[in-house]
Amino acid sequence: MNAAIRAAVRVGTGLGFEMFGIRHGFNGLIEGDIIPLDNRAVGGIIERGGTFLYTARSREFLTPAGQEKALATIARARLDGLVIIGGNGSLKGARFLEEQGVPTVGVPGSIDNDIYGTAMAIGVDTALNTVVDSLNRIRDTALSHERAFVVEVMGRKSGYIALMGGLAGGAEIVLIPEVPVSLGKILAEVDAGLRKGKHHSIIVVAEGFTPKGGRKGGKSAGRMVSDFLEESGEIETRLTILGHLQRGGSPSAFDRILASRLGAAAVEQFDKGETGVMVALSGNRITTVPLDNLDRDGSNVDLEVYKLAYAVAT
Ligand code: F6P
Repeated sequence: MNAAIRAAVRVGTGLGFEMFGIRHGFNGLIEGDIIPLDNRAVGGIIERGGTFLYTARSREFLTPAGQEKALATIARARLDGLVIIGGNGSLKGARFLEEQGVPTVGVPGSIDNDIYGTAMAIGVDTALNTVVDSLNRIRDTALSHERAFVVEVMGRKSGYIALMGGLAGGAEIVLIPEVPVSLGKILAEVDAGLRKGKHHSIIVVAEGFTPKGGRKGGKSAGRMVSDFLEESGEIETRLTILGHLQRGGSPSAFDRILASRLGAAAVEQFDKGETGVMVALSGNRITTVPLDNLDRDGSNVDLEVYKLAYAVAT
């Protein structure tokens, strides 16, 4: 997100806009936590993950009282428009503000890559690289000890990170919320691998995966699969949950470039007077999607890629 803010500020000032940053997301809009941003204020941040403006999952902005306060801040600070970077929740907030007459442009930022209309969101590629790096390390110990490893990755509703991370990291099995598979079938696949001479297995599980037959005992998705394999299988099994490691770290070149292009495109929309949209990546071009369309299914999980992940893991 820092690369997007940097580009928005520098291209924005070039276009003659006065730029400000709102700290702590929608909470900052409610509280009036606004700071001026000039070109120097956004120096030295392109290589840093996260956002130097801080962020928050604001509960207050979901209430009419919070929304009123946010609108009052916008009027008081005489903001002509807002660039909002975030996932589906943030972009819903962007649409609300546009509907209230505040010119708003959204920028897709979510490691889940589940935002309608964009092939990639900011943060996805960096998170994938973290997953692949982790799988490389886990494979070393899995191979040496001849064990199965269940690796749980983020994605409550979306299997994108699990699928693409699993494919790039050479996982034997990928389990995603979009495709329920029974625990018995997972075990059968691990055992089939053993018979084919595979003495280790990497099983990547999205946190939102539910096995056919349902979830049991309040366990995480990874814990459920790993416990089942350890109790019923022939191979010793360990679990690693990558968690929030996936949401930090110096951004990849792809992410810095994407975020710079999207941040710049967002302020250019104000210059054109065309707001109420999200800037997006389509093919290799930056396009726009109406904020109104964003409640459509934004999944970028391709079942052909899912089949491929299995085909290349035999
Ligand atoms: O929406 C992005 C995401 O990273 C999900 O993959 C994950 O389930 C969730 O955020 C975790 O949210 P929090 O950091 O608020 O626990």
